[in-house]
Order: sequence, then structure tokens, then C-alpha cells
Amino acid sequence: MPTKVKIVEVGPRDGLQNEGQIVPTEIKLALIERLVMAGVRHIEATAFVSPRWVPQMADHQAVMQGLPQRAGVHFPVLTPNLQGFEAAVASGAREVAVFGSASEAFSQKNINCSIAESLQRFEAVMTRASAEQIPVRGYVSCVLGCPYQGEVAPSAVAEVASALYDMGCYEISLGDTIGVGTAGKTRRMLDAVSRRVPLNQLAGHYHDTYGQALTNVLASLQAGVSIFDASVGGLGGCPYATGASGNVATEDLVYLLHGLEIETGIDLERLAAAGDFICQFLGSPTRSRVAQALAGGGTPAT
Ligand code: HMG
Ligand code: MG
Repeated sequence: MPTKVKIVEVGPRDGLQNEGQIVPTEIKLALIERLVMAGVRHIEATAFVSPRWVPQMADHQAVMQGLPQRAGVHFPVLTPNLQGFEAAVASGAREVAVFGSASEAFSQKNINCSIAESLQRFEAVMTRASAEQIPVRGYVSCVLGCPYQGEVAPSAVAEVASALYDMGCYEISLGDTIGVGTAGKTRRMLDAVSRRVPLNQLAGHYHDTYGQALTNVLASLQAGVSIFDASVGGLGGCPYATGASGNVATEDLVYLLHGLEIETGIDLERLAAAGDFICQFLGSPTRSRVAQALAGGGTPAT
């Protein structure tokens, strides 16, 4: 097991992108500020995608302009193509992420192109990013199942993950987009991918539709993965993945890791307060079991 884990908070992007009501920019920024105060050092701030496709991310430029400037805090943003990349850089982004899929059907629904076409688009982003010295993260979606084509072979995941790695992505985030994975499936998928991409450059991005996200995190930790994506309050879902629900809640992930004596640098109480802030705004109860227990007067027993 790793002794230290990097957490990438995806709440302001994955957490909010599927919300029906438009969240004002100042609320997004207030959430980000609270996350920074809780010690979160990697926060996916927004997405430079088409506002017609994802209206919730239409204020990407304003979000970038209002970000707190703190040494050591990173604000990566999603960029599906060169147009998104140029807009992100013009708005001050210094770290971006491209997002592909291990499923052809999902690639078409999500970014309107085939896997092969998406990889060509990402190559163009990589070339520009390299010239700007901007690190690029790579996502692979549907690594444990697809809402449109069902089963996804571990070899298909390894293929796309290694293509992204070979083109220069510094980290590959493996997304169980619709949260159908189990620990056994996660292990088999990681076995296949880690033959092509070093384990210390793999991240687990688990949605919690079937309540398996934390278990999949534990299986990944045991396999040697030390980077996890999570969303405060357990918010999240993809508008182009029917049935996708929230990401693993950051509060629950931190509780698990601290219980394993794994360092995160995050203050759980402050993190839970950040989750409470955004859930109150949305008028929805938190999906974090740990935050619920803390709100009910519990004390973390780590
Ligand atoms: P498209 O329609 O195929 O693009 O969209 P196009 O190149 O044909 O251009 C059509 C129009 O879109 C043009 O505007 C372009 O300017 C505009 P028009 O001339 O018609 O006015 N356009 C853009 N506008 C803003 N930003 C851009 C951009 N590119 C073109 N970057 C596109 C292709 C990828 C843009 C579209 O399909 C899109 O925005 N998709 C959004 C996908 C998305 O955000 N999905 C959710 C995030 S992924 C996710 O949640 C999974 C993840 O969490 C991991 C996991 O859980 O698995 C990461
Ligand atoms: Mg996701």
C-alpha cells in the first residue's frame, strides 16, 4: 500500500456538470476556496467544452479568472480539443486534461467522435501543450463498463491508456463512469493497464452508482495505485452516461485513507464543511456517509 496518496478533487467539474440548476460562478469559487482551505491541492476547476453540450460549464472563463492564487495548488481543466485548449490557456490554465474512452459508443455520445479521431485531437493538444510547457492529464472513461455497449475488455482500456501515456500524458485517470465496477473487475483492469502504463502514473476515478466506489479504491490501493479522483459531497455524474451517479465522496475517501494511516494533507472537518456548503446550496443531502456521521455529532475514529 502507498504511504501517501494524491487526491484530485473533481467536485467543481464532475460534481457540478450534471446538476440541473445552473450554479453561479461565485458559488463555484466559494466552494473552491473552501476546498483549498481544507488542504486540497489538486482541484479540477472547470471544463472548456461546448456550452451547448454542457451549459453548467459555460462560465469556464469567469471561474478561471476568480481562482484563488495559492502556491502549490493546481487547477487542471478539461479540454476535449484544440479549441478548448486555446481557450483554457487564454483564461490562464496551467494544467489541462484530455478525456477519451475505452468504449466506441461512449466516445461518440460524449465527444461526438470515434476513439481514433479523439486520439488525433489529443495529439494536437499535446503538441501545443508541450510548446506551452503545460502538463496534460489523460482520462479513459468506461473502464469497467459502458452504458451503451455493456462490457468493456481490460485490453481495450489498456490500449487507450497506453496511447494517452505514449503521447505524453503525465497521469492516466481510469474512469468507472457509471459505477458498475467491482473489486475483482477493478483488479483485472489494473493488471492489464499496469502492463502498459506505470502504476504510479495511474489514477482511480470511481463513480458510486452501485455503492462500490470505496471498495474499488481499496482494491486499487492494494494493487499499488496512489492517486484517486473524488468529489466533495459525493456529487457527480456525466450528462452523456445514462445512470451515472456521484463520484466517490472525498470525505469518505479521506476517512478511509486516514484510517489506513495514509497521508492526504486534508483536514476532514473542513472538507466536510465544504461539502455541506455546496450541498446546502443545491438543496440536496450530502451523499458522503462520513459527512452525515460528522453532522450527526460523530467523531472520526481514525
Ligand atoms: P462538436 O459539435 O463535435 O464540435 O463537439 P465541432 O468541432 O463540430 O464544433 C461544433 C461547434 O462546437 C462549433 O460552434 C465549435 O466552435 C464549438 P458553432 O460554430 O456551431 O457555434 N466547439 C466548442 N465550443 C466550446 N469549447 C470547445 C469546443 N469545440 C467545438 N472545446 C465537443 C465536440 C467535444 C466540443 C462536444 O462534444 C462537447 O463539448 N462535449 C462535452 C463532453 C463533456 O463535457 N462531457 C462530460 C465530461 S467527461 C466525463 O464526465 C467523464 C470523466 O469524469 C471520467 C469518467 O467518469 O469516466 C472525465
Ligand atoms: Mg467522472
